[in-house]
Amino acid sequence: MTGEIFAWIVDYKSPFTSTHSIGVAEDAEKLSRFMGFDEETSQKMYLAGALHDIGKVAIGNEIIEKPGRLTEDEFAVMKHHAAYTYYILNEIDDFDEMRDWAAFHHERLDGTGYPFGKKAEELNTQERIMACVDIYQALTESRPYKKGMSYKKACEILEDMAGKGWLDTEITVQVDACFGSMENRNSKEEN
Ligand SMILES: [Fe+2]
Repeated sequence: MTGEIFAWIVDYKSPFTSTHSIGVAEDAEKLSRFMGFDEETSQKMYLAGALHDIGKVAIGNEIIEKPGRLTEDEFAVMKHHAAYTYYILNEIDDFDEMRDWAAFHHERLDGTGYPFGKKAEELNTQERIMACVDIYQALTESRPYKKGMSYKKACEILEDMAGKGWLDTEITVQVDACFGSMENRNSKEEN
């Protein structure tokens, strides 16, 4: 419940991405359960997912809502949101685990991610899941200016990113299996 309130605050800030945080929360919980993690871990993944972009509250709307591409400088500012997520969640007692699951969602296994440039050996399974789910959700959700991609196309992009050494290949396979089976159940149309 608390997670939903924070997700709502983040999502409210930008109507363009108005369901992104809740979408990441739901996907993270689903995938966690699908991969066999226990109930407590899966619920913690929901909460960490709901909070992953909380740092965006510290970024100006002229950047968050800018139509079109960000300049290099604007992108540098935008990247700070992940560090702000870390520092905001760092203020909560007994929250270190979920702080990291949330704040490392833009880190890459090869060390080229942000904000901390963490490497594979510093990123655990939950942090790797969050990175995959954030991208999967962003690609598949519809926004005012674009229709969401099919799960299939999104999975191809994830697998491509895994091939570049950014994401965990095994987890992208799990994303495909988890959301592919849901796709079949819901029989959503493909793009
Ligand atoms: Fe983010």
